[in-house]
Amino acid sequence: MALAGLFLLLFLPVHLSVNFMLLKSDPEPFNKAAHFMATFPLIKVFELVLMAAILIHVTWGITLQIQNWLARPVGYAGGSKAETSFFSRFMIWTGATILSFLVLHFFNFYFIKIGLVEGNPEDFYSIAHGLFSITSYNIIYLCCFILLGFHLYHAFWSAFKTLGLDHRIWTPVVKKLALVYAVAIPAGFASISIILWLFR
Ligand code: HEM
Repeated sequence: MALAGLFLLLFLPVHLSVNFMLLKSDPEPFNKAAHFMATFPLIKVFELVLMAAILIHVTWGITLQIQNWLARPVGYAGGSKAETSFFSRFMIWTGATILSFLVLHFFNFYFIKIGLVEGNPEDFYSIAHGLFSITSYNIIYLCCFILLGFHLYHAFWSAFKTLGLDHRIWTPVVKKLALVYAVAIPAGFASISIILWLFR
């Protein structure tokens, strides 16, 4: 689960850098990048790995959570005082929000690409600009990315811990990096939404 999660953590900056091309007034760079992603054979392999990572991570996350609930159906009296508890307690809910967003995202883009939903897969730029002109879409998008930030903060350093990379000196550094990552990545996605919604 940690490896699948780390893979997803690496994928997000790649996705974000492509999304920044949406800020250009010329649709071509973004559409070209999307076309390349859809057709280049190596990326197709990458896509399979990505889908597997999502599937493994989600199935494992839900299974772990159900096991936790079954192991302790009644919470600790007085609540848990563990340092990790605040964000870790909400991982399943922030994860469920990301999953709901992914379903919406698949309907808006991926299902068009594979021909399940009608639309022009060669012009994702116009589809994205169309979505970012809808107020309710932007509000949902921004809420999801705030919750993604919470998931990412705990996810980043917890994955290192799971892999046994817990260290007296390095763990506080990893936690600081987690904070930078968890703020910067969602803020990057959110800035694109805000610019296209309010300033274009
Ligand atoms: C952008 C998408 C996502 C990324 C980058 C991501 C990343 C991660 C990482 C790295 C961890 C730490 C794993 C560990 O401590 O070993 C984690 C934990 C977790 N994730 Fe995700 N995740 C994503 C989406 C989801 C989704 C869609 C779910 C669906 C339910 C989910 C559920 C969970 C849960 C429940 C945990 C906590 C597991 C535990 O108790 O340690 N995640 N996530």
